Amino acid sequence: MANVIIVGTQWGDEGKGKVVDLLAEQADFIVRFQGGNNAGHTLVVNGKKYIFHLIPSGILHKDKLCMIGNGVVLDPGVLIEEMDRLGEAGLSVTPVNLLISLYTHIIMPYHRALDLAREKKKGRSAIGTTGRGIGPCYEDKVARNGIRVHDLLDSAVLSEKLTVILDEKNFILRNYFGEAPLGPAEILDEYLGYGERLRPFAGNVSQQLQKADAGGRNILFEGAQGTHLDIDHGTYPYVTSSNTVAGSACCGSGIGPTRMDAVLGIVKAYTTRVGSGPFPSELLNDTGEHLRKVGGEFGATTGRPRRCGWLDMVVVNSSVRLNGLSGLALTKLDVLTGMPMLKIGVAYNCRGSRLELVPAELAALEACEPVFEEMPGWDEDLGKARSWTDLPQNTKKYIKAIEEISGVHVHIISVGPSRDATIIIKNPFNEGTHKEHTSRKI
Ligand code: GDP
Ligand code: IMO
Ligand code: MG
Repeated sequence: MANVIIVGTQWGDEGKGKVVDLLAEQADFIVRFQGGNNAGHTLVVNGKKYIFHLIPSGILHKDKLCMIGNGVVLDPGVLIEEMDRLGEAGLSVTPVNLLISLYTHIIMPYHRALDLAREKKKGRSAIGTTGRGIGPCYEDKVARNGIRVHDLLDSAVLSEKLTVILDEKNFILRNYFGEAPLGPAEILDEYLGYGERLRPFAGNVSQQLQKADAGGRNILFEGAQGTHLDIDHGTYPYVTSSNTVAGSACCGSGIGPTRMDAVLGIVKAYTTRVGSGPFPSELLNDTGEHLRKVGGEFGATTGRPRRCGWLDMVVVNSSVRLNGLSGLALTKLDVLTGMPMLKIGVAYNCRGSRLELVPAELAALEACEPVFEEMPGWDEDLGKARSWTDLPQNTKKYIKAIEEISGVHVHIISVGPSRDATIIIKNPFNEGTHKEHTSRKI
């Protein structure tokens, strides 16, 4: 029995969805614990592509219970649309396979309106958010002004809360941003409707997890975004509004840290970022364009082209520390095929000093230039590799370099978008108890 957390080690879109789908086979429960529909997790199963924003990526497996934890911010319209889309594809989402925490905060129309209005007002210094209302919803949660799932189930409570909240939100929307105010009656109607639809799914996630854990079941925690988008540890203010690191799996679902056994960090074989913010190893040239094209690097949520660059191990090493990673899953190695020479960033040159961690100050990070090590590339197609021995020598060297620089073993190697295009060296569900899981220097 093991409880495994999956997190992104870069700026999101590392391939978390694919790895969660793959490992969900061994899990009994799959839990989202932070973020919302800013996430876009793509799965390719039997040649069919699925993109999930809110539903945990384990949903395609039968007989599993997927959970949405209290740390998530939930847009009910988006969730219901995802449920309906899955239903049309023959996979019905019912209270048997989906549980939503009563404590989960709800994204309201004014959150989306404020997100968009704020970005518009910021102009050139905009964060480049997904515009889904994520930040404003987390703000209201922390300000103790939020609406949670249980509020949708009680019309008197929702009506009273909405009246008070809308008074303030409409004042800001109208007078500060010059945007149209929102009508309480329509919102109340719409959200009470969502409440009725979601009522059978609402329950106590923490309690279910305790039962699952005590019963020796396997739990998989699905992170969204990436470590460097973390509200505390990321490239602030160009971050998302939740804690994306592994510790957040505990607060965001209601389970204690002693129950965790492994933390798998997903590393894309190069680096991408969507939205604004510093990106030291970014390639603003043909090589970056090549990675975007071959890697299909366009946002799964907003369709924006992703910024691309070389693998930055300063970024990955910070993630090893911040998440206590016990293993790495390396994705999209196949995208590097055919590139004659590869570069790995091993440190930064920052105003004449060598840095081996991501600096806190934005101006310092913007001044960082990566120190690269060059590696020979390979020409072989990796798409059919299914074991370590199928990999070309230079691919093995690239993987070993990542292990040496990070001090963490690569447990999973992904060589294509589909479930089967994977080499599993070590399955995190077979790792034993948490006491054995410390990252080792190799
Ligand atoms: P997530 O947000 O971390 O789940 O990642 P996304 O789904 O947003 O982006 C990863 C993209 O890469 C998706 O389109 C996946 O289908 C695709 N992908 C995942 N692993 C691989 C891989 O090993 N090779 C290739 N070529 N594509 C992959
Ligand atoms: P997955 O789970 C990549 C980025 C946005 C923006 C910043 C803040 O698919 O890896 P927000 O809407 O969260 O307030 O935007 O965070 N961002 C992501 N980038 N992948 C994601 O999720 C992201 N979720 C948010 O582009 O720069
Ligand atoms: Mg994504």
